[in-house]
Amino acid sequence: MEKRFKKRSSLLMFFLKGSKRFFIACMISGALMALLDLVNPRIIAYTVDAVIGEEEANIPSFLTGLIASIGGEDFLKTHLYVIALVILGVALLSVISRYFFRLFNAKGGEKLVCNMRDTLYDHIIHLPVKWHNENQTGDIIQRCTSDVDTVRRFLSDQMTNLVRVIILIVLSIAFMLNINVKLAMIAISLVPVIIGYSLIFHRKIGASFQKVDDMEGRLSAMVQENLSGVRVVRAFGKESYERERFGKANEKYCGMWIRLMQLLSFFWASGDVVSGTQVMLVVAFGAAFCVRGELTTGELIAFISYNAMLTWPVRSLGRVISEMSKAGISIDRIRYIMNSEEEVDREDAGEADMRGEIAFNNVSFSYPINENEDNSGSDKKKEEAKETKPEEKKYTQVLDNVSFTIPAGSTIGILGGTGSGKSTLIQLLDRLLEIDEENKCSGSITIGGKDIRDIKRSFLRKNIGIVLQEPYLFSGTLAENIAITADSIDMDNVKAASKVAALDEAIEKFTKGYETYVGERGVTLSGGQKQRTAIAQMLLREPPIMVFDDSLSAVDAETDVKIRSALKEKSKGTTTILIAHRISTLMHADKIIVLDHGKIVQEGTHDELIGQEGLYKKIFMLQRPA
Ligand SMILES: Nc1ncnc2c1ncn2[C@@H]1O[C@H](COP(=O)(O)OP(=O)(O)OP(=O)(O)O)[C@@H](O)[C@H]1O
Ligand SMILES: [Mg+2]
Repeated sequence: MEKRFKKRSSLLMFFLKGSKRFFIACMISGALMALLDLVNPRIIAYTVDAVIGEEEANIPSFLTGLIASIGGEDFLKTHLYVIALVILGVALLSVISRYFFRLFNAKGGEKLVCNMRDTLYDHIIHLPVKWHNENQTGDIIQRCTSDVDTVRRFLSDQMTNLVRVIILIVLSIAFMLNINVKLAMIAISLVPVIIGYSLIFHRKIGASFQKVDDMEGRLSAMVQENLSGVRVVRAFGKESYERERFGKANEKYCGMWIRLMQLLSFFWASGDVVSGTQVMLVVAFGAAFCVRGELTTGELIAFISYNAMLTWPVRSLGRVISEMSKAGISIDRIRYIMNSEEEVDREDAGEADMRGEIAFNNVSFSYPINENEDNSGSDKKKEEAKETKPEEKKYTQVLDNVSFTIPAGSTIGILGGTGSGKSTLIQLLDRLLEIDEENKCSGSITIGGKDIRDIKRSFLRKNIGIVLQEPYLFSGTLAENIAITADSIDMDNVKAASKVAALDEAIEKFTKGYETYVGERGVTLSGGQKQRTAIAQMLLREPPIMVFDDSLSAVDAETDVKIRSALKEKSKGTTTILIAHRISTLMHADKIIVLDHGKIVQEGTHDELIGQEGLYKKIFMLQRPA
């Protein structure tokens, strides 16, 4: 598949939609600022030479006429305030253009960031689960925050100034040449040295910036992981270990920054020496030319002002270039996300009879092994790795030639040890994972006779209700969480679903009932309460296919029975998949399959299975009350 954004510039142009006009307006204001900055030295030179002194005026002809009409230099000599007013006027215009420069800059920058974040977020939530499995959350967050900010800073701080910098460089050189060619040559001679030096330097620091950025991504990932797993860290008393691990990475990161800053300081300091030398040469030669009468005092003053105007832009050109390398890396990191393919349905994908039979036909599935633990690297690094050794990608097989059918409206139980591939099976059914033949997977899954790859994902997922093994609650009230997939909260339905999930009693014990705030900043629910919330959430949707992935593991046996009998009532006509470790949970299923290391080892009803020697009977005997 062809990459969507082959070049950095194409991605930038894509993100600039909506903010481009502000940046253009900002550049125009910047150009105006530069032009106005260039006017004052000429006014001062004219005042010193022609008004106060007796030299010939060196000003454009249209101004000569204008000055003559108000009484010429003689008039100005006695009315110096007129010149002061003109300078004030120029300053005022400069202030106004500076105001618009900032305003458009801020507007453009914020619009750009807003657009980038929105686009990235929208893209990321549409990326396949496989992609999320392969990329660290912390690193993705860093790409969406700090890398986005680097790009914004580059565009609004550096690129918008570029026009201004170029105008200042070109016009100040032109004015200097106009004042005195010889002195201008001396001033310009060091410009290539300064620019060349910046360029060499920028190459050098580019690589360092990339390393620092990658390291920052790794740090964010570490923090994110530790915060999510804070309870585990506490429970195992791993604080000092984690602290040390973070400390080491942090120290490395700080060290990298310090080295980078040392390089930068050296650059700015040595740059100061070069530009200081240039100023010294201009002042020394200028003074000599003045004494020799080749230059007037006013011209020397103007020349020195123009020279000062030249040094800043020339040096900031180096800055633009160095920031460009930093921004380039950030753009690459964002491009990696934007070039990852979203889930797209086949063109002819449609709907299917979801109340039909479900069949797994010779399904084999492998997970790619993520050998490269550090996957925070840049797009380029990853691409190189992919291009150079594609055959070395390793896989671990989780499902091996699994075939079974679930007749419409029946209940199937899946029993199997941890890691036997039960959850994988369910994720394949919901197409959270794909049977991707390129990745050592094979076989097919059909619902109502239709291959699930020919069914629209949104349709499929809407009709399969899964209670995930690890339920996740969003920050919000309990009612909001239960009705998360509904367009509006219908309390009667919410209560009915909670009743079936045996959650109602627990909820009524909370002082705020269904309005209890849960999630990260709210009440922490127990494991069983969370599971039951997830069950209620699914029941509210009344999907034709219901899947319980070990969803009753955290509830006591009594509640388990209660939920199952309520479900039985509710789920008439629905195809149900029950995954469990506890035989009592699934013994009443119409059919039970036993999975062991990715293979179906037994299949039948409870009575059939306890009648034969095998894993099922072994587990049954183990779980039988003594
Ligand atoms: N995203 C993944 N990447 C690589 N391997 C994975 C991934 N998810 C699961 N596995 C591996 O696949 C195997 C099957 O996992 P699965 O979650 O399907 O097991 P399970 O039968 O649901 O186990 P449990 O009863 O503990 O929930 C395990 O060995 C697991 O380590
Ligand atoms: Mg599982």
